[in-house]
Parts: sequence; C-alpha cells; structure tokens
Amino acid sequence: MARIGVLTGGGDCPGLNPVIRGIVRKGIDHYGHEIFGFRKGWKGVLDNDAIELTRENTSGILHKGGTILGTSRTNVYKTENGEERVLAALEERGIDVLIPIGGDDTLGVARKLFEAGFPTVGVPKTIDNDLNATDYTFGFQTAVQIATEAIDRLHSTAESHDRVIICEVMGRDAGWIACYSGMAGGADVVLVPEHPFDLDEVCGHITNRHETTGRTFSIVVVAEGAAPAGGGEAATAADTVDSFGHARLGGIAHQLEKQIEEKTGYECRATVLGHIQRGGSPLAFDRVLGTRFGVAAIDAASNGDFGKMVALHGTAIELVALEDALSEPKLLDPQLFETAGVFFG
Ligand code: F6P
Repeated sequence: MARIGVLTGGGDCPGLNPVIRGIVRKGIDHYGHEIFGFRKGWKGVLDNDAIELTRENTSGILHKGGTILGTSRTNVYKTENGEERVLAALEERGIDVLIPIGGDDTLGVARKLFEAGFPTVGVPKTIDNDLNATDYTFGFQTAVQIATEAIDRLHSTAESHDRVIICEVMGRDAGWIACYSGMAGGADVVLVPEHPFDLDEVCGHITNRHETTGRTFSIVVVAEGAAPAGGGEAATAADTVDSFGHARLGGIAHQLEKQIEEKTGYECRATVLGHIQRGGSPLAFDRVLGTRFGVAAIDAASNGDFGKMVALHGTAIELVALEDALSEPKLLDPQLFETAGVFFG
C-alpha cells in the first residue's frame, strides 16, 4: 500500500478522465493504495492543493471530456524555489509516487523530479500526437474525427458557393491531425509544419482541380503550425508566450484565405476549428487507450518502475524511459504525407 499522487498538466484532451479512473480503480481495488489528485497541474503540487480520489468521485467520468482535476501550464522550473516547493508538498502529503499525465512540458518536469530523486511515472498526453516513443496518444483520434466531420460539412457549403475553404486545425510542430483528417475528409491540399509550403504550388493544385476535373470548389486543410517555404514563420494569434516559451499559434487560414483568393481569383473562406477539437466526449478508442494507460501507470508505480512512461507500441502497452519520449517531437511519417499527396489537386 502506498500514497500515489496524480495530476493532469498542459492542454486538456478527451481521454484524461479514463486515465484517472483507471489509476484509481486498480490502485484502490487491487493494490489498496490511497490516491490523491492535485488540482490544476503542477500548480496544485506547488500549492499542495489536492483531493483524495475514490471510487465514488471517479465514477461516471469515463465518457466525459476534459479533466476532473483541472489543468494548467504552470512551469515548476520557472517558479521561484519551484522544485523545493514541490518536493516539500509531496513530503507533507506523504506521497510515495507521482503520476503526471501530460505532454513534453509536464513530463519534462516529471523527468527532472525523478532525476532529483523523487519516484515518478509518466502518462503521455497530447492532442497533437507528437510525443515520441508512443504510437498514439489518447485524444488524437477524437480530434481527427471532429475535424473530419467538420471537413465533411465544409464540403457541401464550399460546393454550393463554388468556394475554396481553408480549414485550420491544431498541430503546433507536427501535422498529424491535419494529415489524418485531410485524408479522411478528402481534402484537396493538406499543409503541415514538417513541409513548408509554396503558395504557387498550393494555388496550382487548386487551379488544376477547378480547370480540369469539373470541380469548382476545394478544401484546404492547414495545421496551425504550417509556414511558407523560404524561412516564413508560423502565424501567431498573440505576442505573448506561455511559461514553457510556446507562442500562441493561429491565423494561417485567414492569411491563406486572402493570398489564395488574390492569386487564383476563386472566392475563399477560412474556418478555424480551434478548441472544438479538444472538447467533448472521447471516442471509444481514446476511452480504451486512456484506461489502458491508467492501469499500466498504476502497475508501474506499484512495481517500482520509476522514471518511465507508459506507451502504446502496436497493440501492446509497454514502458519506456521518460527521456526517450522527450528527446524530440514525433513528426509526421513521410510515407503518410506522401499518400495524402496523391489526392492533392
Ligand atoms: O499542445 C496542444 C495544443 O492543442 C496545440 O495544438 C495548440 O497550439 C495549443 O495546445 C493550444 O493551447 P491553448 O489551450 O493554451 O490555447
């Protein structure tokens, strides 16, 4: 029996609650642990703000989006005496092992705490699916489904009005959501951060389609982190950066709306899906993946497998070193993008 701490950090995504439920159910029923959930990510640990998680207060959350614990982008290592405060809070509450659920920022803190001697087990989370050492993260499939349904809807209005609609989806460093939803939704062009785009080429695809296929509308799917070739920067929605140094991306679809209209003469409209992609109920796939990650994380915490992260490899859940997940982002598979490209224009 041990005292286990749990937190959810960074941007939320569908599937976080299934992870929490998995940790609590197996942690209490099988291992007899006491589980504490820190509120609002690392902020809750810094402030020692936690609630005891029980079967009762984690029941009925499997299908719910977001996180019952709340989240934040608080950076322990940008906070004065951050590490000391975290270690003091964990000691005061008698926490033996901490399970942070998050992306590279949150898990980067987990890794540093582990290196400082505190037992941690990470659970990977990113809607962008760009965390290394795991094939998928939960929430990604749900986001792809939401984006695909949006692209389906954009098709009918684009067709009615003979318009080019540019649909902006999430994807800071990697174009997984753009590529998957673009392929599933039959997009005519997909633009991703991994491949800086050439505007003339984009317009060439659209013009070719309109002039040679009898189609007088097009759908362009663009990841928010996509940028023009020749050293262009990704569009930003604000001048500020978060505590991990990330700019707030957004606006590329509106830029392209003007540029494509100017170059092709076709009427263009921009649609930004934004946080709709991260909200609401997780798909079955993400509920199952979240549940498996939660159960595997409490197993690892109970077996002394610290400094590790649970990961999906093929169909199996395995443990990897936290540092393997954090070395660099998992970029789009070039073969997948090449396949998407068959349908451009
Ligand atoms: O990192 C995940 C992500 O959803 C990115 O795709 C996006 O750029 C960012 O988070 C948005 O963050 P916020 O919720 O702070 O607006």
